[in-house]
Amino acid sequence: MLANSDIALAFSAQRGKRGRASSRRPRTITPVAELGNSAVPQKDSNFRTIQIIPSVLPADWANMGQCVKELEASGVDRIQFDVMDGNFVPNLTFGPEMIKACRKYCSVPFETQLMISQYSSETMLDEYVEASKGPNGEPGVVIVHVEACDHLHRMLTRIRTLGGSPSVALNPHTPVSMVENILDIVDHVLIMTVNPGFGGQAYIPTMLDKIRELRQIILERNLDIDIEVDGGIKADWTIAACADAGANCFIAGSGLFAYPTLLEGCDEMRKVAKAAQNGFILKQGQTLHEIQL
Ligand code: DX5
Repeated sequence: MLANSDIALAFSAQRGKRGRASSRRPRTITPVAELGNSAVPQKDSNFRTIQIIPSVLPADWANMGQCVKELEASGVDRIQFDVMDGNFVPNLTFGPEMIKACRKYCSVPFETQLMISQYSSETMLDEYVEASKGPNGEPGVVIVHVEACDHLHRMLTRIRTLGGSPSVALNPHTPVSMVENILDIVDHVLIMTVNPGFGGQAYIPTMLDKIRELRQIILERNLDIDIEVDGGIKADWTIAACADAGANCFIAGSGLFAYPTLLEGCDEMRKVAKAAQNGFILKQGQTLHEIQL
């Protein structure tokens, strides 16, 4: 098993090989002070940059424009739109028009998770890639589910050709081996930590081994890929365990919108994830305050 320092070393050697979606922030060494007034020492500053990405599922859909504006002001790194067609998952949300309509309210990068049937993703891919782009046409993240694509390699290649940032998602039952042959053409891999279709579900802890397995493969093959997790992620042991296992992008719906302000929620999640990268891993039932020295 590779030690964390080996992981960090491998990644810093990799950074920036392939021009990528403009959503990635340049790596910064975080002074201890910025982790809040705790004296958390920097254990390893070479982990991949933590990204906090709200899912808009819990938002007020009648005011989605205002909501994305508030999310941007709260310092999130990207905004995720959960597209559901009542076919691939037993729930129905919105299409590319809603995502496109939100673009003029903020400039933060967008991410679209396509929880839709193969037919819908193949016939409407162009619209989703276009709607997910940044204000100046920067690539937006477009995530297809491996379970919904017989021609996954073709689909991911098409997203890149259309000017998007191709990414793939795995449902909880799907093994990492299902995506091993396309890791060289994606920018992100999303490991679902709930069964897709609804917000507010309980996080599935057994997904940690899958994160570790994927991280191992990424390191061994020197790939420049972010690992995302989505479902039941909160500013507690759930985000801490995933950050420690190697994930760096965290999707949160109910866990973020539950805070009095989105800013507090975003800050708290980032603090707990960073503390975990520095070796302070919150355990179940522990709160952030208990690890402040
Ligand atoms: C579920 C969606 C998630 C969901 C997360 O299918 O993909 O993004 O909105 O919501 P929470 O964080 O409440 O589990």
